[in-house]
Amino acid sequence: MNESKKFSVVIAGGGSTYTAGIVMMLLANIERFPLRVLKLYDTDANRQATIAEAIAIELNEKAPDIDFTWTTDPESAFTDVDFCFAHIRSGGYKMRELDEKIPLKHHVVGQETCGPGGIAYGMRSIGDIIELIDFMEKYSPDCWMLNYSNPASIVAEACRRLRPNAKIMNICDMPVGTQRRMSQIVDLKPQDLEVRYFGMNHFGWWTSVKDKAGHEYLPQIRDYVAHHGYLTQVEVDTQHMDASWQATHKKAQDLLAVDPNYLPNTYLKYYLYPDYVVAHSNPDYTRANEVEDGREKRVFTAAQKIIDAGTSKVGEFQIDSHASFIVDLARAIAFNTHERMLLIVENNGAIANIDDDIMVEVPCIVGKDGAEPLTQGKIPLFQRGMILNQAMVEKLVVDAWINHDYQELWQALTLSKTLPSAQVAKEVLDDLIIANQAYWPELRHAKHEVR
Ligand code: NAD
Ligand code: G6P
Ligand code: MN
Repeated sequence: MNESKKFSVVIAGGGSTYTAGIVMMLLANIERFPLRVLKLYDTDANRQATIAEAIAIELNEKAPDIDFTWTTDPESAFTDVDFCFAHIRSGGYKMRELDEKIPLKHHVVGQETCGPGGIAYGMRSIGDIIELIDFMEKYSPDCWMLNYSNPASIVAEACRRLRPNAKIMNICDMPVGTQRRMSQIVDLKPQDLEVRYFGMNHFGWWTSVKDKAGHEYLPQIRDYVAHHGYLTQVEVDTQHMDASWQATHKKAQDLLAVDPNYLPNTYLKYYLYPDYVVAHSNPDYTRANEVEDGREKRVFTAAQKIIDAGTSKVGEFQIDSHASFIVDLARAIAFNTHERMLLIVENNGAIANIDDDIMVEVPCIVGKDGAEPLTQGKIPLFQRGMILNQAMVEKLVVDAWINHDYQELWQALTLSKTLPSAQVAKEVLDDLIIANQAYWPELRHAKHEVR
């Protein structure tokens, strides 16, 4: 790939609430990442059509040279593509709602990617992502998949096991978003920061936040986070502004208190303060409902307005500027830029004192052959214990999916820090099995009944 090349991209999950914002971001970055073809692919034709018809109007007015199409046919979607940006949601919001509400009914954390909800989502996602990889390899063997479909950690472990040679990069926007907040705290730009970080996806710690000249800002950011969490004065984020997210940014101060040496990922709240999370959740109205009433409604109403007006001049779609990390990643591969980014990769010594075969999130140098992880050295006992625990939970989930094994899945839930006992784990699991019948492999059941 060279500087004059124009790229062909398929977005899998074309009907996602994020697609329009990402397309607008691609348009804003068209000089940095030129496009010749853009396709949307989704299994839900109707959902995708609303977004796609509105995007077609936008592109026709703003970038008519881009050949834009949408389809539910894998062959048309994956033929002649250089990149697949994947953001599918297996089971949709209907199932996210159950992932959140079923555990909460048992007074257990109900969350999209953490605890039993994340495990249930993982059991749905694995097969769908493997299918996308297979389409990509069949129709465009040189294509790279930039995957941010959740739960990214379980998906990454499944890919490691089932498609170890696939050209897939797993990435999350949470560190990107939090680093934007950090940059604001110290009055710099996000691109000025160079970080060191270790952990797994939605489960990690920053050990250093420097500017390009090498000045260490961690103590200054720590003092701020100790008082305010990652809440900042100015809106730095378009995606994580709802009240429930603001509470999550604020709660980082209590995460920091557990180990003031490092800056925590906000998702650690589900593991360090599960009782607090349950106490502050409404079991009848969870984040899925908030998103359905908020982002989903906004995006689909905006699309419909553009379609009804027949022009993008109504100006309804917003640029998801924070999603430019996706372009940075694609450019790093396409142009061998050696950009430094946090990615989810096989450990292989990057964190010295945990197993090689754990999928970790660490800074990497990205070029045309993929990611080269940067070593983060040895980590302390507390974080090591947390990571090993969570890694084994996720490995058990992938084992359970591969082996169709109830026992392994029960063990996964039992081991999770979000569940209080094997008994509660079993009760939650049995409800999740019923809810996920249409999505999970059928599990071979354990004979033993808990009394
Ligand atoms: P959404 O439900 O609005 O969009 C997902 C789309 O994927 C839907 O249109 C759905 O029909 C489609 N889909 C489902 N299964 C599919 C399959 N097998 N093949 C093709 N299409 C399929 O959800 P959303 O809120 O926009 O989120 C999309 C995804 O992005 C989720 O997985 C979410 O967790 C993830 N996400 C990840 C990050 C990150 O940091 N990694 C950030 C934001 C969102
Ligand atoms: C962050 C995480 C994503 C997650 C999203 C949920 O961006 O990194 O992995 O999917 O938050 O946001 P939502 O607004 O859907 O609750
Ligand atoms: Mn994420």
